[in-house]
Amino acid sequence: MTSTPAPVRIAPSILSADFAALGQEVRAIEAAGADWVHIDVMDGHFVPNLTIGPAVVKALRPHSTLPFDVHLMISPVDHFLDAFAAAGADIITVHPEAGPHIHRSIQHIKSLGKQAGVSLNPATPAKMLDYLIDDIDLVLIMSVNPGFGGQSFISSQLRKIEAVRKMIDKTGRDIRLEVDGGIDAGTAPLAIAAGADVLVAGTATFKGGPDAYAGNIRRLRGEA
Ligand code: DX5
Ligand code: ZN
Repeated sequence: MTSTPAPVRIAPSILSADFAALGQEVRAIEAAGADWVHIDVMDGHFVPNLTIGPAVVKALRPHSTLPFDVHLMISPVDHFLDAFAAAGADIITVHPEAGPHIHRSIQHIKSLGKQAGVSLNPATPAKMLDYLIDDIDLVLIMSVNPGFGGQSFISSQLRKIEAVRKMIDKTGRDIRLEVDGGIDAGTAPLAIAAGADVLVAGTATFKGGPDAYAGNIRRLRGEA
């Protein structure tokens, strides 16, 4: 069974926002037409960078009505799931390499009433999803190695997006296929053509400051 392609959603990564004005930045991207707010959580251990924790997610929650798409790049991850759920995450995405029992992590996220995502690093095969796909709401394909914004899109990931699109369509379930890293007006159409329906974009959303956000988001949608 093949599902009708969903309209593409844009999820700006606030990793590229002005950290001294995060509430304002989140309000600005919502006003500029963003669909989700992508929040990159890094621990300096699973990935070589350190970003934000549940207290910041909680502080941002009153600033937006958009879904908070929380991408956890932390290991071990399980003991932080409750805190991010309580802080206001709507979607919580984990990496299989970040804990010994990814299926248990997914069950835990679902038990908290949140949508559960699995993220695949560039070298992690689509096959990793074989026994998870029926239990998840989102697949996040990393098109860069996790840790930093502003890296170049790894084009070998297009094949993986295509493979995961087929897997998702086969389930007949409503599962989002999100791509993260190096997305700009040039790579967005490639990711969409391969089957992505959510695009994360940090650098490409926030470049040029608040007055540019609406145009930047339209360009990612292929509308400008
Ligand atoms: C990388 C993060 C991405 C990153 C994307 O580990 O998961 O969300 O912020 O940044 P750009 O869009 O600049 O590649
Ligand atoms: Zn991310």
